[in-house]
Amino acid sequence: MEYGKRIGHRINGNKIEVTFEKQKVIVEIIKHDIVNFFVPIWSDDHRSKAIEGEKAVKTNFSTAEERDALVITTDSLTIRIGEDFCVNIYDKDNTALLCDYEGPVEEIQRLSESAIALVEAEGHDASAMKAKSHKISTRKCLDPEDCIYGLGDKTGFLNKRGYEYENWNSDLPQAHTEDFHALYKSIPFLMCKKKHGVYGLFFDNTFHSYMDIGKTSEAYFSYAVDDGNLDYYFLGGKTLADVIGNYTYLTGTTPLPQLWTLGYQQCRWGYENAQDIREVAQNFRKLHIPCEAVQYDIDYMQQFKVFTWDEQNYGKKGELFAELAKEGFKPVVIIDPGTKLEPGYMMYEEGMKNDYFAKDKDGTVYVNEVWPGEANYPDFGRKEVRDWWGEHIKFLTDMGVGGIWNDMNEPASFRGELPLDVQFHDEDRSTTHAEIHNVYGHYMGKATYDGLRKLTPKRPFVITRACYAGTQKYATVWTGDNQSLWAHLQMMIPQLCNLGMSGFAIAGVDIGGFGADTTPELLARWIEAAAFGTFFRNHSAKGTRRQEPWQFSDEIVAIYRKYVELHYRFLPYLYDLLYKGEKTGLPVMRPLVLHYEDDTETHNLNGEYLVGDSLLVAPVVEQGATKKLVYFPEGDWYDYWTGERINGRQYKIVDAPLDHCPIYVKGGSIIPMYENVQYVGEKPYDTLKLLVTPGAAEYEHFRDNGEDYAYKDGAYTLYRFKKSEEGVLEQEILHKGYPEYAQIQIVDIC
Ligand code: NOJ
Repeated sequence: MEYGKRIGHRINGNKIEVTFEKQKVIVEIIKHDIVNFFVPIWSDDHRSKAIEGEKAVKTNFSTAEERDALVITTDSLTIRIGEDFCVNIYDKDNTALLCDYEGPVEEIQRLSESAIALVEAEGHDASAMKAKSHKISTRKCLDPEDCIYGLGDKTGFLNKRGYEYENWNSDLPQAHTEDFHALYKSIPFLMCKKKHGVYGLFFDNTFHSYMDIGKTSEAYFSYAVDDGNLDYYFLGGKTLADVIGNYTYLTGTTPLPQLWTLGYQQCRWGYENAQDIREVAQNFRKLHIPCEAVQYDIDYMQQFKVFTWDEQNYGKKGELFAELAKEGFKPVVIIDPGTKLEPGYMMYEEGMKNDYFAKDKDGTVYVNEVWPGEANYPDFGRKEVRDWWGEHIKFLTDMGVGGIWNDMNEPASFRGELPLDVQFHDEDRSTTHAEIHNVYGHYMGKATYDGLRKLTPKRPFVITRACYAGTQKYATVWTGDNQSLWAHLQMMIPQLCNLGMSGFAIAGVDIGGFGADTTPELLARWIEAAAFGTFFRNHSAKGTRRQEPWQFSDEIVAIYRKYVELHYRFLPYLYDLLYKGEKTGLPVMRPLVLHYEDDTETHNLNGEYLVGDSLLVAPVVEQGATKKLVYFPEGDWYDYWTGERINGRQYKIVDAPLDHCPIYVKGGSIIPMYENVQYVGEKPYDTLKLLVTPGAAEYEHFRDNGEDYAYKDGAYTLYRFKKSEEGVLEQEILHKGYPEYAQIQIVDIC
């Protein structure tokens, strides 16, 4: 991509159009610390599928033409745009944050004489090893201390530096290893923690893109994309939390969910009939392991046809739901986008009649194969198609469904990937699969969310496998088909932390592992490690060992119950974090670097995490281990189980026998807790417990009906608790719009 010499610039509102010999560029000041760089290579139409509504606000800025650069200054940034669109961005103190890399470009030389040996011996794909050329690319400098976070669900460790990734939603059957380039989600957002300063970058382009995060060269990272425009946002801030705030200011925050959706859910592909599901549900109640939902995987449908119900195996429509509802179970059902090609089937007939399916390049309706056999793909980029899909959700809500799980929406296809030229739409504009692929799951999520929103007064509970940046506004995510491997338990922590920092405050993995056979020890360690999860579900695949807790021993049942109960006791804390996160964009599960960014020990910590800023969780994620090396950041920490005080800024080896997950509470904390229940709604939560640790503390707690949007109209109560150094607790009600607790009890940790 060539730009040539800078010719001049023109200001229009917040936009600065910069002209080069060969290309114009539009720089838009969204606010003092968010700047968009838009290069209309493909189209002048600046559209985003991630960002909805106008985000630019009136901002003071100035421009100055200097000899070697156009200099744009806002209250917090200085941007120098030089020849050939070379962009350098500095903070207020003139410290460089992000500079274009102009040095020599390196390549990893792989196809040498030994290439054949590599291909033969190590199974490398020779074609993938050749250097690729892309329509658009840019390189940005990396400093030696820079650490990179974000990028959604990518495999590997927390710090993404040294990895190479692709943004192309992929459903690959192999076990997800550290060197995977892509999984189900494309979230081209990264954050950089520098020695001095932080920044974020969001590359808003849905075509297949590639990121080499300092793998090829220590000196730079590169971004390349196959088509579309170069369209990226620089996100400033003083802290990583500010950068997340700016990113979610653009793409939206995770909305407050229904309280029960944070509770425990059980699934298996496949519970084969009503009796199977009934027995699983009954066992939870019999064994007193709290549970909200037994999820329905694809077998409940007739021949995997979306919006149908198999009465033969699952009984009369709605009956099983109603029966289990008496015991507090909320039905969550899977739906897939691939719509069976079957004349006479209502979805097929309506889709064909109204021209709702994606087309092959010759104009015929495109056919591939998924679970129902030959299938068509709804063109979800069009509003009328989303509305049609949303209306059919009535079939499920009429039966009493409590949540909808969108699967296979990369979109998955059994007869090879959809060709790039399959015809889709982006709203009113026709386009191809190449552009829509990465937002197919996003649009399906929006269709499902909007459908539920119209049909029920409750906050929609939508789960999706595939998504793009911004999907957090519509759906909760899980990380797809992991396996019952220790490596996948280990990966859960960095993967969920990075998803959280990429806007998805609610996210989970399949507890116990989806593929392969779990072991009692692995399952025990997994429920411990995931105990503070926001999407808290055990799920496994057909053909694998069943992994409900009672499949193993009384010991495993007891451990499982202990951690599910623990989760339920902390529900008000998780809910408060989500209430606050709806405003700040911050997730529940956080890597330590988010709160201790200047402590370099936290930059690469993969084996522990924070819940909010008050809980430190350090689970055992290694087979056979009964001790854990825990890093305690600055401050005093109190062992949740014993009350023992531990000084911060040290590593400690702590005991962790099979039933023990090391958990610590920060000094100067107040954490709200509830009594244990078998399910949300079993009895009213009329007592609030406040777990307190020594030191002055302040905490705001939110209480509402946990279900609908009444809180937006004031139907909530907001408490503020203040504790002095001496331990005196004061309570203030900041807003009163929902019945108060009958009792508030203080629980001292020591
Ligand atoms: C793939 C999903 O990832 C998995 O969770 C589900 O059980 C199967 N599809 C079958 O629906």
